[in-house]
Amino acid sequence: MFFLIISFVLYVNACFGHSSINTESLPFIKETIATQSVQTDPDDPAIWIHPNQVELSLIIGTDKTARIGGLYVFDLNGKIIQRISNLDRPNNVDVEYGFKINETCSIDVVVVTERRKQRLRIFSVNIRTRQLYEITGSNTYVFIDSNGHEAAPMGIGLYKRADDKKIYAIVSRKSGPRQDYLGQYELIWNRDSIDLKFIRYFGNSQGSEIESIVVDDQLGFIYYSDEGYGIRKYNVDPNTDQNEQISFINTTNIWQGDSEGLALYTTSDKNGYLIITDQLEHGTIFHIYERQGTNSYIKSIKTRAVNTDGIEATSNSLNANFPHVFIMFN
Ligand SMILES: *[C@@H]1O[C@H](CO)[C@@H](O)[C@H](O)[C@H]1NC(C)=O
Ligand SMILES: *[C@@H]1O[C@H](CO)[C@@H](O)[C@H](O)[C@H]1NC(C)=O
Repeated sequence: MFFLIISFVLYVNACFGHSSINTESLPFIKETIATQSVQTDPDDPAIWIHPNQVELSLIIGTDKTARIGGLYVFDLNGKIIQRISNLDRPNNVDVEYGFKINETCSIDVVVVTERRKQRLRIFSVNIRTRQLYEITGSNTYVFIDSNGHEAAPMGIGLYKRADDKKIYAIVSRKSGPRQDYLGQYELIWNRDSIDLKFIRYFGNSQGSEIESIVVDDQLGFIYYSDEGYGIRKYNVDPNTDQNEQISFINTTNIWQGDSEGLALYTTSDKNGYLIITDQLEHGTIFHIYERQGTNSYIKSIKTRAVNTDGIEATSNSLNANFPHVFIMFN
């Protein structure tokens, strides 16, 4: 199995409102390329954008097997250029830019949930070699006061706060309580590696699983998918002291499968789209909402991807293959 990458232009018309969706008549998009196959079961992708040569950007994806799971790095043609093996059920992955390690130096970080080890694995991107180097510290365990599935990290979203540039990981787990399902941890530089500092638990759940998370750094929101119910929106900055849910996109009316993937597609500092997948065996559907305001529904698009897990999107024009909207999924 592999990751699929598509490029398309999103035409938005003014017709909002969606009491039900006729999936037969949805616009269909075909993938532009597929990556080389990973060993077993791909789950979640991320994109690292090269700072000055966008065509050298990277796609990073997890292969979620126990013990022999992997983290794969692909170029924009889908060719595997690095494989990090022996992760014990890596689930989701995210990228953040500019983690400050001292007065003069900052690094881009890639963080993966390692579910069976109940911890995060942390890597830096070497811009020259385009390789990942591991910088996991000795203290990257999460949900340490829980056991079993409640201590098993799955989803991850990284957040960089604009004013002080601190970076946080927000992590979801295989199962959790109705309140305080998510854990938020600050990334702390410790001589030559990164440790975690616990900040807070927050986030309601309807009692189902929460996997996908996306953070809007610029507007300061986190969205996560309470599978089978809807998308919940919270403040992501712990300093706001506002731990309550801001809003809820109720998907029970338009959903057929699980909401398994979330991605943000930005068109400016404030505007853009929130993309949510409906995980279906005979062609996953992407539902597109407004990023700004109250996240109004815009439209839905059909793909031929089978049971997608995670998705990622960028509005950067990367190369001739991907000049417009760029979304990837597995
Ligand atoms: C900052 O860290 C880098 C990488 O470890 C190192 O090469 C550099 O000397 C450090 N600079 C200072 C001012 O400590
Ligand atoms: C979501 O919509 C369904 C169907 O209309 C409704 O039964 C349910 O109560 C709503 N959930 C929330 C949390 O509003």
